[in-house]
Amino acid sequence: MSRKPQVTRASAPGKVILFGEHAVVYGRPALAVPVTDVQAVATVDAGRSELGVTVYAHDIGRTIDVCQAEAEEPLSLTVRNTLSALSLRLEEVQLAVHVRSSIPIASGMGSGAAVATAIVRALSQHLGCPLDTGTVSSLVYETEQVYHGTPSGIDNTVVAFEQSVYFRRGDPIAILEVGQPFWVVIADSGVPSLTRQTVADVRSVWQRCPEAYERLFDEIGAVVDTARAAIEGGEVGSLGPLMNENQDLLRQLGVSSPMLEGLIEAAQRGGALGAKLSGGGVGGNIVAAVTEESADRVRGYLLDAEAAQVIVTRVEK
Ligand code: PMV
Repeated sequence: MSRKPQVTRASAPGKVILFGEHAVVYGRPALAVPVTDVQAVATVDAGRSELGVTVYAHDIGRTIDVCQAEAEEPLSLTVRNTLSALSLRLEEVQLAVHVRSSIPIASGMGSGAAVATAIVRALSQHLGCPLDTGTVSSLVYETEQVYHGTPSGIDNTVVAFEQSVYFRRGDPIAILEVGQPFWVVIADSGVPSLTRQTVADVRSVWQRCPEAYERLFDEIGAVVDTARAAIEGGEVGSLGPLMNENQDLLRQLGVSSPMLEGLIEAAQRGGALGAKLSGGGVGGNIVAAVTEESADRVRGYLLDAEAAQVIVTRVEK
């Protein structure tokens, strides 16, 4: 019989939405890709405390005793849901979970989903019953509801499956085939992205003007389908103009901001093929389509425009 390891480690990548945010909450498709340059890591060991689980969130300097935590506290909710998926009770285990992440927090890079994914994986593996990816994704979705209110499910899907996806709420996962690798630059505005708030704001205007917003969502959906065909067909040159088109529609939805527009302009001055906000908007990230040759120059322009962090990443299979 093989011995159970004393320490179990699991990780999960960040993600970036290339096309389709917000409209995806209303049943339109969106494209998102994992960003492996940044990772959340969870390690589980026997701990030193009493029965139960203690989570050490090292980056934010927090220690959470899951038995004592409020029901809505996201990390302890993730632990509780994982144990209940394994038919275990909190009082039956004695574990410490250490979490570290290089994914910028509240920036639209899926930090919450990645931390939850790493916790679910590390815990279930440590307890000898690794959960399948579909179950991991569903458990992470439950945590996402605490962060985001009414999430579409795109974050947990991309992060748990670690695959580029063409995502449509309720549909089985559709992998986005990348015909030819391409480069994107992601820049964090440093302003926290309040996805829960922007999703709620869009919803309240949609309720007042459903026809106008449904039209915008349809137009975003059409951009997503064109972008999917371009990515799968290896016609990466058209991604820049499609990002600009998507950004124009996001502006009309009311989720851009002067800070994001400043970064988009900086990316364009630096030679990006196109750029848009990514994620909930108002704060958080922008994403720009670049060539391998222009990536560094765009990066420099974004840093000059006071981006808090810039990540250059190659999107491939
Ligand atoms: O802020 P992020 O990257 O978690 O993205 C939110 C994307 C939205 O479409 C605005 C919301 C959602 O749940 O899909």
